[in-house]
Amino acid sequence: MAKAALQHACTECGYSAGRWFGKCPGCGAFGTLVEEKAASSATASAKPLLRLVDVAADEAERIPTGVPELDRVLGGGLVPASLVLVGGEPGVGKSTLLLSALASISKERRALLVTGEESTAQVKLRAARLGGAEKVEILAETELETVCATLESERPNVCVIDSVQTLYSPEIGSAPGSVAQVREAAARLLRVAKEADIAVFLVGHVTKDGTVAGPRVLEHLVDCVLQFEGDRYHAHRVLRATKNRFGSTNELGLFEMTGAGLVGVPEPSELFGRGAEGEVGAAVACALEGTRPILLEIQALVAPTDLAMPRRVGTGVDPKRLAMIVAVLGRHAGVALASSDVFVNVAGGVRIEEPGADLAVALAIASAARGVPVHEGLAAFGEIGLTGRLRPASQAERRLEECAKLGIATVVVPAGTTARTPARLAVAETLRAALEAGLEPRATSEEAAA
Ligand SMILES: Nc1ncnc2c1ncn2[C@@H]1O[C@H](COP(=O)(O)OP(=O)(O)OP(=O)(O)O)[C@@H](O)[C@H]1O
Ligand SMILES: [Mg+2]
Repeated sequence: MAKAALQHACTECGYSAGRWFGKCPGCGAFGTLVEEKAASSATASAKPLLRLVDVAADEAERIPTGVPELDRVLGGGLVPASLVLVGGEPGVGKSTLLLSALASISKERRALLVTGEESTAQVKLRAARLGGAEKVEILAETELETVCATLESERPNVCVIDSVQTLYSPEIGSAPGSVAQVREAAARLLRVAKEADIAVFLVGHVTKDGTVAGPRVLEHLVDCVLQFEGDRYHAHRVLRATKNRFGSTNELGLFEMTGAGLVGVPEPSELFGRGAEGEVGAAVACALEGTRPILLEIQALVAPTDLAMPRRVGTGVDPKRLAMIVAVLGRHAGVALASSDVFVNVAGGVRIEEPGADLAVALAIASAARGVPVHEGLAAFGEIGLTGRLRPASQAERRLEECAKLGIATVVVPAGTTARTPARLAVAETLRAALEAGLEPRATSEEAAA
């Protein structure tokens, strides 16, 4: 008989090999490979097949979590018997968010919190601060078998496991939080969730580079992966789905951390879309996050540098996209930046991934480079092509409505954008034309400076 296969798996990337390495060949991390027993293959018998037409499936009613921003990101509420992974850096507010959700779910359904990280007394203190969580049931336990057995016998409607990294199964030799343990815990909980019809939230810790710690396989197992972001020094937190089997992944939830817990921000444009008038290097973008348009202030700083490779630093914008915009500005719009550092920042710690924000980023950089402000009450959206031509952005009507609601006087848009809204449009075909339409004329500022 062949020797029982012993695998070594990386806790960072899930790479698995037959022997141990000090440095993971998959991701290059040191000391992350741990022993893991390979599953034994049992003989199985065939099962009869079904045709899809014969499958009975009724669209289960979603469970409202009572946190509208969370519902939005989940795609309209929690799907019963689903497994949702919530990742986030330490202290970002994962436990707070899920406890407030449990509190409102517990009013109509059974809600259970399994805490492996905090004592019941600690949870009680937080619950007292948030309020309304009296009916939430709690279990302080880290042993996986006990948790699963309790879930099967109690059958709550919704359960939060805080956190999946603390769960431990003695059957598996390795330490809690290791790749084998986390994977086993998720797989077991998945089975229990489907069999006992429990919607399970798994809290997962995140590594420095933002991936959910432990194996990436966790992300494949679960139905939804939510990322909770925002730095500790800002009160604003962003919740977004990176995977969702029951809804769109580009919805965004915005929260503010207060003493009484996380409060949703239903009107983010009010908060992030208002810059000081006449400021050099600031422009307002109308970005679309999922189905929701958001006005965001984009700030840029252009500073002379002696570096051979000038710096292009973006907070909240994709660095590749930023490098491209800088290059197009230089090549097609006459904004020379080859000997300048360029810094770009999106207000409020929000991260934009959508190309529709390109034009506002370019406007902010051009404004900073030329030292002239953007016209008052102006917003912009549109994708910049490598040729310097602008491409229409999706769902223009929605964005224009948002601009009108916030009292934006003029919107710079790519040619081809049609609108029924009363907002005044400055249609531009190329980036050069858009800069002309968006920026105050250079002469006035030079005269003022002289
Ligand atoms: N009394 C308070 N007033 C305002 N904010 C508070 C208060 N107490 C805690 N917080 C906020 O709650 C945050 C911690 O939230 P929480 O414990 O939910 O985070 P977490 O993501 O679960 O962290 P961990 O990874 O450590 O479990 C703190 O960073 C702080 O911003
Ligand atoms: Mg916590």
